[in-house]
Amino acid sequence: MQATIDEALRRHEGEPGALLPVLHDIQDTLGYVPAQAIPRIAEGLNLSRAEVYGVITYYSHFRHDPPARHAVAICRGEACQSMGSAALLAHAERVLDCKSHQVSADGQFQLEPVYCLGLCASSPAATLDGTPHARVTPAKFDALIASQRDIK
Ligand code: FES
Repeated sequence: MQATIDEALRRHEGEPGALLPVLHDIQDTLGYVPAQAIPRIAEGLNLSRAEVYGVITYYSHFRHDPPARHAVAICRGEACQSMGSAALLAHAERVLDCKSHQVSADGQFQLEPVYCLGLCASSPAATLDGTPHARVTPAKFDALIASQRDIK
């Protein structure tokens, strides 16, 4: 982890506004921005820990914990909204027992709302581990999750 942080800081050394690129690099490599990274980032960019923490928590893109094995994205774009994606997202939150931007209660799925997957004509749309799925009903969603969920 330390090497990843130091490499990100070195790569963007002297750049104005380096904080966001550094955070992106760390998340791209580790999958999240660990809380333990904040002091080193702050020191490396001559910022306060509060400033670094504030940026990490302001942008929902940055994860605070290691990502789950599977990524679920449900479209909240206009076309999908008109075809019931809000209800689909609520269903997903119940099934996965978590809120948007969180990891499911079993730790296996990360649930993210997104805005347009390019499948507007086949709304509502979702992706599972990057694979697009069209006209996703609650039953279809349940089947997708069951196909990837590890039995404990
Ligand atoms: S609005 Fe959902 S795929 Fe375009």
